[in-house]
Amino acid sequence: MKSNPWKRYLRPEVLREAAYQLSSYPEAIKLNQNELSYDLSPDLKDELLRRLRDLPFQRYPLPQPMALKRCLAEQLGLKAEQIEVANGSNVLIQALILATSLKGKVLTLDPTFSVYEIEAKLFGNRAIRVPLEAPDFGLPLEKILAALKKQRPNIAFLANPNAPTGNVFPEEALLEVVAKAKCLVVVDEAYVQFSQATLLPYLKKFPNLVLLRTFSKGFGLGGARIGYLAAHPALAENLSKILMPYCLSSLSEATAHFVLDHADRFAPIVAEVIRERGRMLAAMRALPGLRVWDSAANFILFRVKSAKACFARLLAAGVLVRNVSDHGGLKNCLRVSVGRPEENDAFLRALEASL
Ligand SMILES: Cc1ncc(COP(=O)(O)O)c(C=O)c1O
Repeated sequence: MKSNPWKRYLRPEVLREAAYQLSSYPEAIKLNQNELSYDLSPDLKDELLRRLRDLPFQRYPLPQPMALKRCLAEQLGLKAEQIEVANGSNVLIQALILATSLKGKVLTLDPTFSVYEIEAKLFGNRAIRVPLEAPDFGLPLEKILAALKKQRPNIAFLANPNAPTGNVFPEEALLEVVAKAKCLVVVDEAYVQFSQATLLPYLKKFPNLVLLRTFSKGFGLGGARIGYLAAHPALAENLSKILMPYCLSSLSEATAHFVLDHADRFAPIVAEVIRERGRMLAAMRALPGLRVWDSAANFILFRVKSAKACFARLLAAGVLVRNVSDHGGLKNCLRVSVGRPEENDAFLRALEASL
């Protein structure tokens, strides 16, 4: 077999990993990335564009987005020194791994958000995957505690609600993991607006707890790329060394401020998504031959006879969902984001027809 000529230049971990890819079908109703299906309303967009127009584009942002950190801290009842902001929480996941674990061990659940393991492996780490409990993806507390003790990972990632399963884990169990872990435990609360589940009150008690949040879901800013973390001030300061200077553009920073100033406009949208989630769950459960899991997020996981065939039929009917059947324990599973009512109707019609 011909050897890869890039072996001379690149680390084996980089050569081994596949690039993150997602096929795009611009014509389809897009329910594949757990986005908010609502863009900013035209009046808000105009106001935001006026704010952006007044920014000096030729200037760097401040080295640290202090005003945004203060604003987020105030909302969370924390100190600004406890917040780090970056261009997407994916970047913070990478920074957390870089700060804790090179050629070490990273503990994740299985199935869970794939970026934890992808980033772990790119930096030469071994991913310790702890399988979630069948049949409803419960948190395998004893197995996690055993893995922490035996494998001594450098960092652990738990998404709550978990993605792509959508369930929240019991708070006491999560806290036991944090209390017993001798490493950082990152609880990824990307979908917090839809679940209302947070370990925020426990940040003070546990210096090894890191909470990860994003503007991509409940604030509908997937395109603006803004994520943040909350942690002990000394930990946040150390993590800031890993983040690139100016890694949040002044446009994104202003956009984040803007949506925080107009948070009241997002609350009814989030409430509608939660209502629609209930409606979709009920409608899907009334269909024959489907296994549908409860969700505390803005997406629903379901199992069909053939994920590949169902995905293709939905797409042919103009609805794009995500085939997640390559994740551990998710054979023949698809995931659909909760969209606007008319998008959800189109999905439900296409799903029924596909069965
Ligand atoms: C659990 C979880 N964390 C983080 C992210 C990524 O967030 P961001 O857009 O801030 O990079 C996602 C995106 O789907 C997610 O599901």
